[in-house]
Amino acid sequence: MSDLQRLLKESWTLVEEEQDKLAGYFYARIFLGRPEVRDLFPVTMDVQRARLLGAIVSAIQTVDDPERFDEYLRSLGRDHRKFQVVPEQYEVVGAALLEALRTFGRGDWTPEYDQAWRDAYDVIARKMLAGAEADTNPAFVHAEVIHHERRGRDIGLLRVRPLQHLEFRPGQYVSVECPKYQPRVWRTYSIANAPRADGTMDFHVRALGAGWVSGALVRRTQPGDMLRLAAPMGTMAVDRRSQRDIVLIAGGTGLAPIKAIIEELATFNRTRWVHVFYGARDRDDLYDLPDLQRLASVFPWLSLMPVCSHDSGWGGEEGLLSEVVRRYGPWQDHDFYLSGSPAMIRATLRAVNELQVPPMRVKYDAFADY
Ligand SMILES: Cc1cc2nc3c(=O)[nH]c(=O)nc-3n(C[C@H](O)[C@H](O)[C@H](O)COP(=O)(O)OP(=O)(O)OC[C@H]3O[C@@H](n4cnc5c(N)ncnc54)[C@H](O)[C@@H]3O)c2cc1C
Ligand code: HEM
Repeated sequence: MSDLQRLLKESWTLVEEEQDKLAGYFYARIFLGRPEVRDLFPVTMDVQRARLLGAIVSAIQTVDDPERFDEYLRSLGRDHRKFQVVPEQYEVVGAALLEALRTFGRGDWTPEYDQAWRDAYDVIARKMLAGAEADTNPAFVHAEVIHHERRGRDIGLLRVRPLQHLEFRPGQYVSVECPKYQPRVWRTYSIANAPRADGTMDFHVRALGAGWVSGALVRRTQPGDMLRLAAPMGTMAVDRRSQRDIVLIAGGTGLAPIKAIIEELATFNRTRWVHVFYGARDRDDLYDLPDLQRLASVFPWLSLMPVCSHDSGWGGEEGLLSEVVRRYGPWQDHDFYLSGSPAMIRATLRAVNELQVPPMRVKYDAFADY
């Protein structure tokens, strides 16, 4: 651990127990000093669910070497254009952060800690600003929902038509806002198709409990509604130069980017075997199985293994995806693409590591918040 990271972690323990109060103070500092900044944030804001402070703290604590995270920070800065953030607001937010830390760190907060947070924030903010400034695309595009279909208990499949061209690569995701039902709240969703001539895009969304955006997209959105989509992000693109066979692993709606990758492979692949493991709790949750079966019947290089973890009457493969993938190994000579919940990704990464797949051949997106 570098000195900087040690100082950041050590100092955070001084305030950690009071982080809700610290968050309240942080937002109050910003909004009282600069009331116009309040309009950038969701209409209803409770401190537990407000995302900015938590995001900055975790970025600062994990990004000990900002050079390594250069591309991520630049794309985060590009993505922040969707919030309509202007450069000078980075100073306002940085100053509020330091003041909140000093206030709750009380007598134990040293000038050394202060400097460490200031330095880390400045480097990150500079990289985000550079990313935002270099981007000439619009901050977001408007897209009309042209098809909405409910599948299973809590899944919605949406097809949208962006009003402006949005270039993306299969495997990428975009931030989505649903202004009619949840204005100013953005969440990321993977694009579930390869680029099409008519520009339409598909999304597979699972409504999560009282989740703000997923609930609105699955239960309330209808054809004719408008969404906003920010710039595509993510690096889970197929390596076209590789000759290796491929393993695709999708948990739940983690199928979305995997399906986009299959569609892309369908445009050029003839020589690589592609094995898809598609897992869910039960049959009802395997919401897109018929379409995957159709693809597997059309493309001889594609094989499909549906998996249920909790379905006693299911005649197919049972267990967690990580266990099933392990059973079918060894896979040392394959390229891997994984998508799903953080728990599924962690377990599967452990499994492929045990199967001695070199980490550089494994690409993944976890549906973590940030
Ligand atoms: C790279 C990436 C790609 C993704 N792709 C997809 C995708 O293709 N499909 C997909 O379905 N999802 C995807 N996600 C997840 C998605 O971005 C959202 O995180 C998810 O839809 C939940 O957002 P929400 O606004 O509905 O929930 P939030 O409102 O953010 O709530 C999150 C969780 O907290 C719970 N909660 C609700 N209210 C409260 C409260 N008052 N206090 C405490 N907890 C509460 C909710 O039940 C939910 O479980 C992706 C995530 C990432 C990072
Ligand atoms: C070091 C600087 C910053 C970092 C690392 C950072 C990081 C993040 C991340 C990771 C998220 C969650 C992702 C998302 O919802 O898309 C987020 C949300 C957000 N950020 Fe930033 N951000 C920074 C600075 C700023 C600044 C200067 C502003 C302007 C006021 C800002 C405004 C927002 C808003 C409005 C949200 C959504 C909040 C919510 O939904 O509750 N950010 N930030």
